[in-house]
Amino acid sequence: MEGATLLLFSLLFLHKSHAVELDTISDSSFLTDGDTLVSATGIFELGFFQPGSAENRYLGMWYKQISVRTVVWVANRNDPLPGASPLVLKITDEGLLGIFDNISMIWSSNTTTSGNATARLRDNGNLVVIDKNENVLWQSFDYPTDTLLPGMKLGKDYLRNKEWRLSSWKSSQDPSPGDLTWGADTRHYPENKLKQGASVIFRAGPWSNQQLTGIPVLSRSLTLIYEVTINESEVSFSSNFQGDPLISRFTLNSSARLESWAWVDNNRGWQLFVSFPRGACDTYNICSAYGTCSINTIQQLCSCLDEKRFVPRNQRAWDAANWSGGCIRRTPLECKNGSAGFIKYSNVKLPDTENTWYNMNMTIEECGTRCLQNCTCMAYANPDSSRNVCLLWFSDLLDIQVLPEGNGGQDIFVRMNLSELDSQSISIDHGGSNIKVILLVTIPGVLLIGLIIATWLCYARRKKKHAKPKGKGQIFNATKIQEDDMEQPLFSFATIANATANFSPANKLGEGGFGPVYKGMLEERKEIAVKRLSKYSSQGLDEFKNEVICISKLQHRNLVKLLGCCIQGDEKLLIYEYMPNKSLDLIIFDKTQSVLLDWTKRFKIIKGIARGLVYLHQDSRLRIIHRDVKASNILLDRDMNPKISDFGLARSFGGNETQANTERVVGTYGYMAPEYALDGLFSIKSDVFSLGVLMLEIVSGKRNRGFVDPQNEINLIEHVWRLYNEGRSLELIDTSYAESCHPSEVIRSIKVGLLCIQQNAVDRPNMSNVIVMLCHDGELPEPKLPSFLTTEHELRVVNYPSSTCTLGSLNDLTITEVDPR
Ligand SMILES: *[C@@H]1O[C@H](CO)[C@@H](O)[C@H](O)[C@H]1NC(C)=O
Ligand SMILES: *[C@@H]1O[C@H](CO)[C@@H](O)[C@H](O)[C@H]1NC(C)=O
Ligand SMILES: *[C@@H]1O[C@H](CO)[C@@H](O)[C@H](O)[C@H]1NC(C)=O
Ligand SMILES: *[C@@H]1O[C@H](CO)[C@@H](O)[C@H](O)[C@H]1NC(C)=O
Ligand SMILES: *[C@@H]1O[C@H](CO)[C@@H](O)[C@H](O)[C@H]1NC(C)=O
Ligand SMILES: *[C@@H]1O[C@H](CO)[C@@H](O)[C@H](O)[C@H]1NC(C)=O
Ligand SMILES: *[C@@H]1O[C@H](CO)[C@@H](O)[C@H](O)[C@H]1NC(C)=O
Ligand SMILES: *[C@@H]1O[C@H](CO)[C@@H](O)[C@H](O)[C@H]1NC(C)=O
Ligand SMILES: *[C@@H]1O[C@H](CO)[C@@H](O)[C@H](O)[C@H]1NC(C)=O
Ligand SMILES: *[C@@H]1O[C@H](CO)[C@@H](O)[C@H](O)[C@H]1NC(C)=O
Repeated sequence: MEGATLLLFSLLFLHKSHAVELDTISDSSFLTDGDTLVSATGIFELGFFQPGSAENRYLGMWYKQISVRTVVWVANRNDPLPGASPLVLKITDEGLLGIFDNISMIWSSNTTTSGNATARLRDNGNLVVIDKNENVLWQSFDYPTDTLLPGMKLGKDYLRNKEWRLSSWKSSQDPSPGDLTWGADTRHYPENKLKQGASVIFRAGPWSNQQLTGIPVLSRSLTLIYEVTINESEVSFSSNFQGDPLISRFTLNSSARLESWAWVDNNRGWQLFVSFPRGACDTYNICSAYGTCSINTIQQLCSCLDEKRFVPRNQRAWDAANWSGGCIRRTPLECKNGSAGFIKYSNVKLPDTENTWYNMNMTIEECGTRCLQNCTCMAYANPDSSRNVCLLWFSDLLDIQVLPEGNGGQDIFVRMNLSELDSQSISIDHGGSNIKVILLVTIPGVLLIGLIIATWLCYARRKKKHAKPKGKGQIFNATKIQEDDMEQPLFSFATIANATANFSPANKLGEGGFGPVYKGMLEERKEIAVKRLSKYSSQGLDEFKNEVICISKLQHRNLVKLLGCCIQGDEKLLIYEYMPNKSLDLIIFDKTQSVLLDWTKRFKIIKGIARGLVYLHQDSRLRIIHRDVKASNILLDRDMNPKISDFGLARSFGGNETQANTERVVGTYGYMAPEYALDGLFSIKSDVFSLGVLMLEIVSGKRNRGFVDPQNEINLIEHVWRLYNEGRSLELIDTSYAESCHPSEVIRSIKVGLLCIQQNAVDRPNMSNVIVMLCHDGELPEPKLPSFLTTEHELRVVNYPSSTCTLGSLNDLTITEVDPR
C-alpha cells in the first residue's frame, strides 16, 4: 500500500496541471494543498486549511463568497495533518475518497465500490461520493461537525446504525470534537438536547413538525420548514428553507452556545438570529420536578406548576431559592380504579421525554385512556399537532416551563387524584372510565372575563352618574370623597395657605400637569409640597379625585408619598412629602447640575423608576398606568432616590384590564408611545415606552424633544438608534458622568431603552422584564427599529367621563367599586 501511495504521489506531482475549480473529483483529478473544490453555483468550497495559528492542517468546507472564512465542516477532525508534507485528496480505484501525504492515507471516506466512484461537492454543502449510477455511497452530511446546514439531519438511521449529532470544536483553533453535543436521544420520544459529556445543559422540547418549544423563535414559518421522521428505519429531524435559500447555519460553539446565523450582506456580515441557552430559565431542570421557571417574577425564579395543587417538597429550601427538591402533588395519587383524572395545562414546554412511551397513531382521547390504565403514568400529551402522537410520561415531570401565551407552548394533561378536580371539570367518557379534564382557565381567559366585568361596571356606574341631577354634583362628589374614601388627613385651607406664605411666588417649585406646586412648611417644621389644582381646569375635579384615591392607596419607596389633601370651595390641594432635590429634568439636562449624578446614581435612578412602575402595573392592589412618565415627574429625595409623582393622569384598572382606549389623550410629546399619541390606545406598554425614552435621556443627558444634532436627526431616539447600529453607543455617554461609568451597564441600559421604545407594543418588554434585563447579565433580545414618531398631533381633549380607580384583584376576579355613588 505504501509503495502504491508513493508511486501515486510522484505521478500526481508530475502533472500538476488539473483544473482547480472543479465540483467533482474522479480518478483523473485530485486536489492538492492550495487547490479547492467548488460547488456548482459557487456557494461552498472544499480545501485544506489551518485553523487560526494552529500548525495542523485539515480538509474543510467553507463558503466561497464570504470573506470571513467560516468553516462548516471538517473531514479529518480526529486526524490532524501536522507539518508541511504535501497533501492530496484523491479517489482511489476501490472508491475511497482519501487524504494522503507522501507516506500514507490519513483519512478516508470508508467506502468501497467496484466501479468508478466520484466525489462531488453539492450546492447545499454536502460532499458526496457516488458510484457510476449516481448512488450515494458516502456523504459528509452523515458526519456533521459543529454546524448544521439547512437539509442536514439530526437523529438516527437504524439501517446503517448511524447517529447524526453536532459536536463542538475543542476550541476555535482545534476542530477535534469537544465534549459538547447537540442531538436527539432516540431511545425515547426524540428531543434535542445540549449535553456536556453525559449531563444535559439545555433541552429544546420534543420534536414536532411545527416547532421546538424550547426554541420558539425558530418556529416553522412560511420559509422555514421542519421535517420530522419517526419510523422503524429512521428517526430524524431537519429544517430547511422554502423558496429563496438563505445562507444560514446553526452552530454549537465551544462555550456551549447554540447559535443561528444568517449572512446578510458583505457590509453587515453574519447576523446572529438567536443564541441558546438564553437565561437562567433555559438551564436544564432548574426548577426540578413539577416546577416551572419564569423570569417574570422578580425574586422567585421557580414556582410550582400549579400553586393550588402542587407544593414544594421542602418549603424551607424552596423559600431559600434552593429548588432542587421540586414540587409534589398536594394530594398524593392513589392506585385504585377510578381514583384519578387529568388536569390540562396549556402553553407548556413539555417535560423531559426520558421515561416516556409513545405511539404515532393514537388520538388524544385514546392516549388519555391509555395513561389512566397504568398507575405509573403521570401525564400525557400530543407533542406534534400535525399528527396523532400519544406521549406518556412514567416518572415525575422534569424541566417543565409554562411559557407566555403565543410562545409555542403545548397542552399537557397531568394526572391528579379525583379530589383535586373541582367543579370546573368537564367529564369526558372514554369507554367506561371517567376521565375528568379541567379546562384550566388560562390567564388570557381571566383577562377577557375581567375586561367584560370591568366594562360592565364602568357602564353601570356611568349610567348612574348620568342619572344624577347636575349642578351640585361636583361639590357633592368631592364631599363624598372626604367621607368615604379618604384615609388621609385633611388639611384646612388656612393651614396650607399659611404654610406656603399664601402661595407666594417665592415658594413656587414649578408647574405640574394641572397646576402649580409650592413648597411649604408646616408648624412642626415639616417640609411639604403642595399641588394647587388649577381652578379653571375643566377636568380638574375628576383628576383630583382620581389622584387622591389612587395615590392614597399606593405605598412604595419609589412613589412620592401623599400626606393629605384639602378641599375647600373651588380650591383643591394635594399635600406631598417634599423632595429636596426637586425633579430629575432640572438635574440631568442642566450642565452644572448634571455632575451631581454619577453613573451609579443614574443607574440606580433608572432601576428605581422601573421598580415604581412595576409596583403600579403589577404589584399594587390597583393596576395603574401612569400615562405621563417623564423626567419632570420623577422627583429625587435627599439621597437621590427617584420617586414617581403626578398621578393625576393615572388610570387604574380593575386588576384585569391591561389596555384601554381613551378619547382624551393626555401625556407629554416626546414620551408618548405611537399607538397612544395616534390612536389614544394606552396600556402598560405605553408607560414602558415613556420609560424607554426617559432611560435614553438619563444616559445621554439630552432631551428627546428639542434634540439638536448636526446630523439633522429628528430626535434623540433616531440619534441613539444610529449610534447603536454603528456600534458607537458609548458616544452617548454624557460627559458629566463619563469618568464614573460602567460601559457594560450603559450599553445594557441603552439596549433595554431601545427595546422599550419599539414601534409595536408587543415587542416591548413589560416592566418586570425591564427590571430583570437591567439587573441580570442574561442575553438581551436585539432591538428592532424603534418608533421615532415626529408629527405632533393635536391633543384630542374631549370631555369624556374619566374612570376613577376600580379596585380589583387578579386572583378572585371580584371587582368592587371604590366610588360608590
Ligand atoms: C514527506 O515529506 C516531508 C515534508 O516534505 C519530508 O520531510 C519527508 O521526508 C517525506 N517523506 C518521504 C518518505 O518522502
Ligand atoms: C470503516 O468501515 C468499517 C466496516 O464497514 C468499520 O469497521 C470501520 O470502523 C469504519 N471506519 C470508520 C473510520 O468509520
Ligand atoms: C472507469 O472509467 C474509465 C474512463 O473514465 C473507463 O475507461 C473504465 O472502463 C471505467 N471503469 C469501470 C469499471 O467502469
Ligand atoms: C421512514 O421514513 C423515511 C423518510 O420519510 C422513508 O424514506 C422510509 O422509507 C421510511 N421507512 C419506513 C420503514 O417506513
Ligand atoms: C460562543 O458564543 C458566545 C455567545 O454567542 C460567545 O460569547 C462566545 O465567545 C463564543 N465562544 C467561542 C469559543 O466562540
Ligand atoms: C438544597 O436542598 C436539598 C434538600 O431539599 C439539600 O439536600 C441540598 O443540600 C440543598 N442545597 C443547597 C445548595 O443548599
Ligand atoms: C378497572 O375497571 C375496569 C372497568 O371499569 C376493569 O376492566 C379493570 O379490570 C379494573 N382494573 C382494576 C385494576 O381494578
Ligand atoms: C391508525 O390507526 C387506525 C385505527 O386505529 C388505522 O385504521 C389506521 O390505518 C392507522 N394508521 C396508520 C398510518 O397506521
Ligand atoms: C405501566 O407502565 C410501566 C412503564 O411503561 C410498565 O413497566 C408497566 O408494565 C405498565 N403497567 C401496566 C399494568 O400496564
Ligand atoms: C382522592 O380522591 C378521592 C375521591 O375524591 C378521595 O376519596 C380521596 O380521599 C382522595 N385521596 C386523598 C389522599 O386525599
